[in-house]
Amino acid sequence: MKILVTGGTGYIGSHTCVELIEAGHEVVIVDNLYNSSKGVLQKIETISGVLPKFYETDILDKEGLEKVFAENKFDAVIHFAGYKAVGESVAIPLTYYENNIAGSINLYQLMKKYEVRNLVFSSSATVYGDDFEVPFKEEYGLGTTTNPYGTTKKMNEMIITDMDKAEPENSSVLLRYFNPIGAHSSGLIGEIPNGIPNNLVPYIAQVVSGQRDYLRVWGNDYDTVDGTGVRDYIHVVDLAKAHVKAIEYAAAHKGTEVINIGTGKGYSVLEVLHAYEKACGHSIPYKIMERRPGDIAVCYADTKKAEKLLGFKAQYDIEQMCKDSYNFTKKLEIE
Ligand code: NAD
Ligand code: WQD
Repeated sequence: MKILVTGGTGYIGSHTCVELIEAGHEVVIVDNLYNSSKGVLQKIETISGVLPKFYETDILDKEGLEKVFAENKFDAVIHFAGYKAVGESVAIPLTYYENNIAGSINLYQLMKKYEVRNLVFSSSATVYGDDFEVPFKEEYGLGTTTNPYGTTKKMNEMIITDMDKAEPENSSVLLRYFNPIGAHSSGLIGEIPNGIPNNLVPYIAQVVSGQRDYLRVWGNDYDTVDGTGVRDYIHVVDLAKAHVKAIEYAAAHKGTEVINIGTGKGYSVLEVLHAYEKACGHSIPYKIMERRPGDIAVCYADTKKAEKLLGFKAQYDIEQMCKDSYNFTKKLEIE
């Protein structure tokens, strides 16, 4: 298939492009390079042997985006482009709604105009909010989101579902990612955080590389194995492979499916820290702090639907995730 990948030079997008190319698909990337760089394209080529066609285009620029549709006959779209920082979304909600909602609507309108029927959308476990029991199941539906970022994911899910109802030829898979971490085993692509990382593993990586003094562990009084928060971490390469299966599923079916992508297993903050210590071969300093506002105690996926519909099961364990994150971080320091 010829697949448009919006946000394809970003963290999850770049890994997905590699897996799509390796599965025999043709990839065209649209990205405005807000949170990524052109250099990623060469890295994708080094890993996969193919340099993807690239448009430096903002999805908010509808004319520019239309040019991409006019010049290419796409079979499908994987839509990653968007802003993703939870805290920032609370401070500048309109910017988030503009980029993640208005940008997405431009894309969906062009898909309709150019009759591109198959879509995979990057949703998030954040749409479950704090309303349900773990493991989170797709049939729970949408919970109460706690920040504008999460609300943009929820709104996109609602928009796509309504759109597909009106257009029975459409086929969309809404992937609710849990906590993607790690990097490609080559160490060539991975997550490069912008400023001080909010997410756990990028922060640990910066402590290990000496950019931060210690990890701040947000609370150790939750009802969990050691009191620290529990999450379902998934290797970004597993997540990328899930996209290949999802877009192939979309092309073979009609309608809308919501599918969790996680491992189904939760790890506490200290368990992740210890796995990272194993990967880097030394201890990592940390301090226990107050709980972070908005955090929930435990979050992990029910993965049965992904297995049943997509035949997807994550392969990599937490140790491999930390090993690959560490390998990528070391390579970055050398660059
Ligand atoms: P990322 O920031 O690395 O990638 C997003 C890419 O989109 C970047 O390359 C950025 O430059 C581009 N982009 C942003 N706005 C754009 C615009 N208006 N026009 C064109 N390009 C634009 O983020 P990521 O971690 O790879 O996340 C990809 C998607 O997955 C996002 O939609 C994110 O919300 C979602 N998601 C991420 C996580 C996570 O923990 N990383 C979890 C759940 C869902
Ligand atoms: C994981 C655990 C923290 C940092 C966020 C978004 C979610 C999704 C993924 C996009 C928690 C603890 C963290 C630190 C810590 N993104 N922690 N010290 O909060 O599960 O999810 O990213 O869709 O929407 O909310 O991920 O990595 O921030 O936190 O102790 O410096 O690590 O309290 O228990 P989270 P995270």
